[in-house]
Amino acid sequence: MNVTWTLPDGETRAAAIEPGISLMEAAVANDIPGVIGECGGCLSCATCHVYVDDAWIDKTGTPEEFEDAMLDVAAAERRATSRLSCQIEARPELDGLVLHVPEA
Ligand code: FES
Repeated sequence: MNVTWTLPDGETRAAAIEPGISLMEAAVANDIPGVIGECGGCLSCATCHVYVDDAWIDKTGTPEEFEDAMLDVAAAERRATSRLSCQIEARPELDGLVLHVPEA
């Protein structure tokens, strides 16, 4: 499946990734700047914050309670489409997904 990340300067990076990994792991494996994944996906750092493209938010879904709380302490501005990408699993129905990387 393919995922595209849009960087804060407008540059886009696309990668083919295996279903089953998280979108944080996919970003780190593909050296996407600004997606760090410091805690390894255990929901304690918020350095994997991304904005899901408006066209995709229905498919990715919205945050669970603990992720929701962590988004409040993310470095970048929180938006309606904010997600922690370690909490989104790559799955075939997300093929073509577009994520926007925050400034901070
Ligand atoms: S990698 Fe730390 S919260 Fe997602």
